[in-house]
Amino acid sequence: MSIGKREYARRRARLIAGLPQGSLAVVPAAREQLRSRDTYFPFRQDSDFLYLTGFAEPEALLVLVPDRAQGRELLFCRERNADKELWDGPRLGPERAAEQCGLCDAFPISDLDDILPGLLEGRTRVYYTFGRYPQLDRRLQRYLHTIGQAPGSVGVPELVDLDRQLHDLRLIKSAQEVRLMQSAAEITAEAHCRAMRRCCAGLYEFQLEAEILHTFVGAGARQPAYPTIVGGGTNALVMHYCSNNAVLKNGDLVLVDAGCEHRGYTADVTRTYPVNGRFSGEQKALYEIVLAGQAAAIDKVRLGAHWDHPHMASVEVITRGLVDLGLLRGDVSGLIEAGAYRRFYMHRTGHWLGMDVHDVGDYRVHGQWRQLEPGMVMTVEPGIYIAADDDQVPERYRGIGIRVEDDVALMKSGPLVLSSAAPKTVAEIEYTMRQGAVQEELW
Ligand code: GLY
Ligand code: MN
Ligand code: MN
Repeated sequence: MSIGKREYARRRARLIAGLPQGSLAVVPAAREQLRSRDTYFPFRQDSDFLYLTGFAEPEALLVLVPDRAQGRELLFCRERNADKELWDGPRLGPERAAEQCGLCDAFPISDLDDILPGLLEGRTRVYYTFGRYPQLDRRLQRYLHTIGQAPGSVGVPELVDLDRQLHDLRLIKSAQEVRLMQSAAEITAEAHCRAMRRCCAGLYEFQLEAEILHTFVGAGARQPAYPTIVGGGTNALVMHYCSNNAVLKNGDLVLVDAGCEHRGYTADVTRTYPVNGRFSGEQKALYEIVLAGQAAAIDKVRLGAHWDHPHMASVEVITRGLVDLGLLRGDVSGLIEAGAYRRFYMHRTGHWLGMDVHDVGDYRVHGQWRQLEPGMVMTVEPGIYIAADDDQVPERYRGIGIRVEDDVALMKSGPLVLSSAAPKTVAEIEYTMRQGAVQEELW
């Protein structure tokens, strides 16, 4: 199951339909990233380029020309090369690439200097995202400069950022995309279950990470969508913790934020659970507040709501919970207005999710929070983090960090939690962890 040729063609047609006559759009593939000497990082295709082509190779470029009679879509890519293919693996080459991507025209990337300037000439606008690939930026600027200098030149096309148009398309997922994201979330949920079953005191955080990666790779999702966070105890308080090199301690919680990338689509799921399989009273009290805050936020992922509604709902529940526990003092609405909760809940409740983990799409339109629409997919991830040295709260609560994160698609019928297979309630988590302990004894 993956995106078919027809869907790629539909995406390009939609983008072209939004471009004015006389314009042209340029969408490059990602560059290979050198790791050291002759060793490269695993190649990850540019999400915009992948969205429009499904083409997996570097050194490629898509050009869209709305009013070109000989064909509106041109792909440039590497030619076949027996020597290079012997060392680095097969290349499709222009002919097969055109066939695979459902494009009528493909050319060798080595011909770009001969063909692209001619296409640019006389255009009124060029849609292109500057700043991502500096070498291509310079090349385009060179082409434009030459066009401007040519005798009888009618001027240089205006450069316009392509992001707005393209990312509005990427923001609304098709049924096929939601299905792929469901698969990514299911693999990820299975990985979290495995980690829960294998978790025990004395493991290094990276050993729990290994359990997560074992499931991802075993399912064919070779790369995580982002660096996995496994934070035991106070490491959970570091938002972007990823050194994962401490030992997990009996009595601590562990926060695991991990998601795979599967066929170009990501998952982003966090679970927090006790290293020894049993929540203490304080851990449970705080955990239940986060969970209730998340449920309230998910319930706001509905038609008619706007982007901020889920966040406001979780802030309200978490603030009230902290007041009930005595960690905040005062009237709930006053505390919300003053932002008092930010001492314990310092991030927002989610972000768009898609081909990128922090996916594209504006959160505000004309200065207003965006209305939620079917096909939008977002994370819902409230948390409570109590600093280890916060002497305003009773000692037994200090140093605890909790986040619960799920991936939610807005369907016509309401919110669909794609990652619901990952245990989440206290009872589900303790049950899953007990299963792991029983298996351990049987072995
Ligand atoms: N894992 C990154 C995030 O939750 O946003
Ligand atoms: Mn997230
Ligand atoms: Mn996350």
